[in-house]
Amino acid sequence: MCGIVGYVGQRSAVDVVMGGLRRLEYRGYDSGGVAVVGEGGLSSAKKAGKLANLDALLAEQPLPDAGTGIGHTRWATHGGPTDRNAHPHLDDTGRVAIVHNGIIENFADLRDGIERSGRELESETDSEVVAFLVQERLAAGDDLAEAVRIVCRRLEGAFTLVICDAQNPGVVVGARRNSPLVVGRGEGENFLGSDVAAFIEHTRDAIELGQDQVVVITADDIVVTDFDGAPAETTEYTVDWDLSAAQKDGYEWYMLKEIAEQPKAVADTLLGRHDADGLLQLDEMRLSDDELRGVDKIVAIACGTSYYAALVAKYAIEHWTRIPVEVELASEFRYRDPILDQSTLVVTISQSGETMDTLMAIRYARQQRARVLSICNTNGSTIPRESDAVIYTHAGPEVAVASTKAFLAQIVACYLLGLYLAQVKGAKFGDEIARIIDDLDRTPAAIQRMLDDADVVRKISAELAGATSFIFLGRHVGYPVALEGALKLKELAYLHAEGFAAGELKHGPIAVIEEGVPVFVVVPPPGRGEVHDKVVSNIQEVRARGARTIVLAQDGDDSVVPYADHLIRLPEVPTLLQPLVATVPLQIFACEYAAQLGHDVDQPRNLAKSVTVE
Ligand code: M6R
Repeated sequence: MCGIVGYVGQRSAVDVVMGGLRRLEYRGYDSGGVAVVGEGGLSSAKKAGKLANLDALLAEQPLPDAGTGIGHTRWATHGGPTDRNAHPHLDDTGRVAIVHNGIIENFADLRDGIERSGRELESETDSEVVAFLVQERLAAGDDLAEAVRIVCRRLEGAFTLVICDAQNPGVVVGARRNSPLVVGRGEGENFLGSDVAAFIEHTRDAIELGQDQVVVITADDIVVTDFDGAPAETTEYTVDWDLSAAQKDGYEWYMLKEIAEQPKAVADTLLGRHDADGLLQLDEMRLSDDELRGVDKIVAIACGTSYYAALVAKYAIEHWTRIPVEVELASEFRYRDPILDQSTLVVTISQSGETMDTLMAIRYARQQRARVLSICNTNGSTIPRESDAVIYTHAGPEVAVASTKAFLAQIVACYLLGLYLAQVKGAKFGDEIARIIDDLDRTPAAIQRMLDDADVVRKISAELAGATSFIFLGRHVGYPVALEGALKLKELAYLHAEGFAAGELKHGPIAVIEEGVPVFVVVPPPGRGEVHDKVVSNIQEVRARGARTIVLAQDGDDSVVPYADHLIRLPEVPTLLQPLVATVPLQIFACEYAAQLGHDVDQPRNLAKSVTVE
């Protein structure tokens, strides 16, 4: 979703803002723009397409030197991705420039009002009205912060706004409701960003803004109020990663780097969670053991890849705790009148912590008096802030739009939650829990083995060149892995890819199997007996209909060999941990296949890293 940068300091605002926008490119966007305010007033430049287009425009028509600036990468919602709809938007007097992330739901009414006063707006966006409304307040004598507060009180929907005024060099004002904005505290300079990546190059000291707050930054000061002007409380923190973590480190794609970081992401998520006796301790768990003992149902809510992590977790948590787990798409959850009460634990899973569908679902759940625990990768983001408890995954910043290391870390965090519940409820003996944790502690090495074997997958990817439709099959925890494999390929290769529960195939989907269609099959460990054998039968069924089978099976499982056109070996791990290894080759395959097709792997078309609209 849109990326936002604001800067006040002594450096060239254009350079700082463009640097910040580059770090935010991963969020997904289709146009970019920048505005600066110096002694000579306000100047701006914006361009549809990638930032390279904006760079070219700035090279042709440089903006004046200035120490105050704002910038934006836009992911189109209202109005296509054109130069005209790109941000910043200026009012018709050229005094105010604004950038916006979110959706202003009452923009049509506000626009009517402005047009009735004889003024003309240029774009098709919901955002432009804000520039006009702020300018009206400034003309009426309000200062910039007060003008923004008054306008914010009139806006409905979700917004992060960052605004500058031609007559106020040295000041940038930001505001947020339901959409993220963080402040970076520098020395003799301060920053605003839609996430910390916007300023991580310059400072790791960040301030988390709360809901409905307005912040005024100058080079030396940061003042935060609520929308009525009352001083507001904020939380300061130090970002626990630095610029190097957000760089490609010699990899061709961020995605490849992040796939390679998975052993560490899993190890870091496990780190410090248990004592020498294997007894679990979850430091950020703000729910008491008594409250957890009272939990009689879990509802896990998430979107996309995080939803698949929840599907995997269901198998483990139900097995270990005997607490029923419902898994729900966040975008569907509150529209079906879900049954929740005080003894329901809602678990939300989100890499970004800003996904609007998930945020709205947890707000709804809390209204229904359910307790909410979030599993999140982004410190200080909105979802954990609005939850009763949190378990942070420690995957580090995930830049590629396609989620990889966050997925594995989410599964691990869900497992820690399941084991913790089992411990608190006495559903498992301590030595059983300790044994599972030992198994988990061994998974980074097993994941590394999958990375070391990546050439097998690359070869398969080259051999399947030309295929345009792919099927992924699995049973038990292999089923969500199949869904995730298909999603990765769809996202990156823009091809038809579908995941199915292998047993469901004969109830309809088998009709799409024809000569040469690649079918990936995740085979459970042979120790799973019946379910393993059923999957082996499913491989034969699709092969008999002409499918080209790519079989993921444990080392030594020779039962699949006669039916595998391509074989990817998996190290021996307990069934519930198999997703942590079996997902890796599917990620590598999607990445390789998309790269083979010449696609931008890190920024697939139409997608945004964090989806901050419903
Ligand atoms: O930040 P979140 O985990 O809440 O994001 C959820 C989905 O938008 C995300 O997983 C999406 O499906 C990714 N593009 C998957 O690769």
